[in-house]
Amino acid sequence: MSYNLLKGKKGIIFGALDENSIAWKTAVRVHEEGGTFVLTNAPVAMRMGQINELAEKTGSQIIPADATSVEDLENLIEKSMEILGGKIDFVLHSIGMSINVRKGNHYTNQNYDWTQKGTDVSANSFHKLMQTLYQKDAMNEWGSIVALTYMAAQRVFPDYNDMADNKAFLESIARSFGYFFGRDKKVRVNTISQSPTPTTAGSGVKGFDGFISYAEKMSPLGNATALDCANYTITMFSDLTRKVTLQNLFHDGGFSNMGVSDAVMETFTRE
Ligand SMILES: NC(=O)c1ccc[n+]([C@@H]2O[C@H](COP(=O)([O-])OP(=O)(O)OC[C@H]3O[C@@H](n4cnc5c(N)ncnc54)[C@H](O)[C@@H]3O)[C@@H](O)[C@H]2O)c1
Repeated sequence: MSYNLLKGKKGIIFGALDENSIAWKTAVRVHEEGGTFVLTNAPVAMRMGQINELAEKTGSQIIPADATSVEDLENLIEKSMEILGGKIDFVLHSIGMSINVRKGNHYTNQNYDWTQKGTDVSANSFHKLMQTLYQKDAMNEWGSIVALTYMAAQRVFPDYNDMADNKAFLESIARSFGYFFGRDKKVRVNTISQSPTPTTAGSGVKGFDGFISYAEKMSPLGNATALDCANYTITMFSDLTRKVTLQNLFHDGGFSNMGVSDAVMETFTRE
């Protein structure tokens, strides 16, 4: 279904690695809703991913950028404005990476060089991105910036490791920068806190299968899929949500407000 929600809007989408990526599904939905955009990902991901296929499908250009490099971000934003023919209306930050998670280093046994790298990629990159957009005055008024996050920022999920801290930091940056972006440029900044989703980044978390089934059983509406997330994100890019800013928006089938569900209780109840 398409509603022309993003007709005439221009944006930048970070993080489409393969067709499972939340950013991939979002790019497809933005295209269906009439938006145009530049796709970007880390140069190394370009070699692994299938982003060319997505670019072809959505009539988009690709500009590689390491989101931790301000120089790359400057180049990306300048070139995007040239390609799209003006300022930007929406930006999706769909980036996360922890080397400690990837290499199986427990939270109680961190390699701090890796911790720092993960923080830079997963959280600081959001500040760098917004600072570059802000200083270049690259956003149109009533534009919308969204980053993706997870509820481990608020509650303990033992195997989420240092990504929990990175997400807490990311959400804080959204509020802090969102204030200045709102006050000075009339741009909104929010994070969407998504259900566990089977993607490359998601599946890297230890015990992910158990994790996703538990969340499914706990949520009255079941887990939100990547496509559900894409649909929610396009509403956040549309003109229908202009006064929503500085929020962490739970998009998780109700999981975040649950204590326990009948389905989970059943597992522990002996007749
Ligand atoms: N999958 C889940 O369970 C889940 C749940 C909640 C939130 N999220 C968040 O959603 C976002 C998207 O992840 P996904 O699940 O679609 O997985 P994904 O692996 O498809 O996407 C992660 C992306 O980050 C990119 N990236 C890594 N380092 C980068 C760098 N230095 N510069 C630029 N890009 C870089 C990767 O290339 C990849 O495209 C992440 O922020 C993730 O934490 C995921």
